[in-house]
Amino acid sequence: MKAALEAMRESVRQQLDSVSDLKNLEALRVKYLGKKGELTGILKQMGKLSPEERPLIGQLANEVRSQLDAWMGETEQKVKEQLQAARLQAETVDISMPGKKKPTGGLHPLNQTLEDFIDIFQSMGFDVVDGPEVETDYYNFQALNVPQDHPARDMQDTFFLNENLLLRSQTSAAQIRVMEHRKPPIRIICPGRVFRADEVDATHSPVFHQVEGLVVDKGISICDLKGVLEQFAREIYGPETKVRFRPSFFPFTEPSVEVDVSCPECGQKGCRVCKGTGWIEILGAGMVHPNVLSGCGIDPEVYSGFAFGIGLDRLTTTRHKISDIRLLFENDLRFLKQFQK
Ligand code: DAH
Repeated sequence: MKAALEAMRESVRQQLDSVSDLKNLEALRVKYLGKKGELTGILKQMGKLSPEERPLIGQLANEVRSQLDAWMGETEQKVKEQLQAARLQAETVDISMPGKKKPTGGLHPLNQTLEDFIDIFQSMGFDVVDGPEVETDYYNFQALNVPQDHPARDMQDTFFLNENLLLRSQTSAAQIRVMEHRKPPIRIICPGRVFRADEVDATHSPVFHQVEGLVVDKGISICDLKGVLEQFAREIYGPETKVRFRPSFFPFTEPSVEVDVSCPECGQKGCRVCKGTGWIEILGAGMVHPNVLSGCGIDPEVYSGFAFGIGLDRLTTTRHKISDIRLLFENDLRFLKQFQK
């Protein structure tokens, strides 16, 4: 029996050397030290021993058990450490590997134009204000000197939500909201989306963008309007740009003008962009109508002002020679990438 015990001890020692996972280790533990294991098997034969041998073998058996226990504990520790090391190794991040490049986005050309627009007007002391896209009839029309059933409403094919609410057809409503809450001097621009029931084609979209401008103070004249717009046109289209005023009509301004700039494409020789005229129309403007001022509690005998409304989409298409306004709304990356800075 002594030989069997020692052989078992040696065999386990050798087997433990090659154990590399906890499952195998557990199997060895069961096989040798378990209730039905080999050690128990050997001890069951103790009865066959002489009374002198029994305590000696008993002691040896105990020694073997505690030794195997200890070795198995050590092996368990070793295997756990190896597993941990292997995991750390597998999870190491190789910081010398080339990274995965994430494609970066860019500002939409409309927003680029808007940012330039805001920069130019902020540098002239204008604040930027916001207004609601769902407006009341009052702000979109009546307070702008366009009473109900006035024929001037036909200029803007408007989406009505009910009798009183509509999708704003112009950013001009912002003028009223500002004048109701601020005292002159007022200098604001209000960019935003506007809506009209227009058929989609190369130059029309039912959703488009405007920027409204308003200045109210003592002694403001049409010369101020011209100066501001000339400055703006030169910054957007280049220092050689000329500006031309043509008489026009808007219910909320008197006098009203249509403003053209010299064609930035052909230098006024005549081309497709300016349809051979040498000029492109960029905005409507005028001196704020006294009815509009007094409706907002501003005395037209004391104060005067000018206002303008510019189409951001057209500004963007003429600036970048984009032939079709629909390109601005289709979100085709092949188109948009050309404007990435
Ligand atoms: N709201 C006008 C439109 O959508 C543009 C406009 C013209 C705005 C003259 C103004 C202005 O503030 O004074 O056609």
